[in-house]
Amino acid sequence: MNRDAIGVFDSGMGGLTAVKALGEILPHENIIYFGDTARIPYGTRSRQTIQRYTQEDIAFLRRHPVKMIIAACGTVSSMLGADSPVDDMPFTGVVYPAAHAACAATKNGRVGIIGTPATVASGSYETAIHTIDPSVDVTAMACPLFVHLVEYGYTDPDDPITRLAAEEYLTPIREADVDTLILGCTHYPIIAPVIGQIMGEGVKLISASEEAAKYAKKCLEEQDLLTDSTERGHNVYYVSDSVSMFRDNARHFLADAVNGQVFSSRI
Ligand code: DGL
Repeated sequence: MNRDAIGVFDSGMGGLTAVKALGEILPHENIIYFGDTARIPYGTRSRQTIQRYTQEDIAFLRRHPVKMIIAACGTVSSMLGADSPVDDMPFTGVVYPAAHAACAATKNGRVGIIGTPATVASGSYETAIHTIDPSVDVTAMACPLFVHLVEYGYTDPDDPITRLAAEEYLTPIREADVDTLILGCTHYPIIAPVIGQIMGEGVKLISASEEAAKYAKKCLEEQDLLTDSTERGHNVYYVSDSVSMFRDNARHFLADAVNGQVFSSRI
């Protein structure tokens, strides 16, 4: 048993979709979140820069009492090698949990992946999927505008700008006849309704954020690190840019007002 927090980080607010999922499946756990809102986006930057930012984000979380770290960012997860960046506590990114879920879900063996340009260029999800099942056919598409649309609140399912961008990005994936689509960036679950409408009812959407949260629960259970508290967990949020901007937008991700203190912090 361990009452320390689960540390979660992302380049911005996308990782809040993992925080929401954690709150649903592990309601008694405390969470410390870091959103690097001053440096978002990561997904259009070089591997070296993303790796440097990742080390700094992890070092920031480690200055707090955390018992596990989740890189709730498809881009960061895609730049990590096979070795965990921390060796004294459990760690997960979002790629492997999502790849496992997609391989389990697909019936026709055709899986789509959408993510940031850095994620798609890395081939991380394909590699993970083919490690699990080499016969799965993969179609991947970078969706560079999605992160910006979500961060700036263009999240209504009827928003014409988001719909137009989604039609453009998703048409090749729909034409590839996939039956499963990985939302490989943690911002994307916020626009899952429009993505789902364009892909059609027969396509199962896999949220990398939710799969990472489920995997985190499994890790904590296996290592006997779950809290023994029976009270609702406390969340604390740190951002590297404006607190008020974070508070305004975060409710789109949490589907509620921010449930904890928010601090602006240099890393
Ligand atoms: N949520 C991040 C991801 O999953 C956003 C990427 C970005 O910062 O560009 O990739």
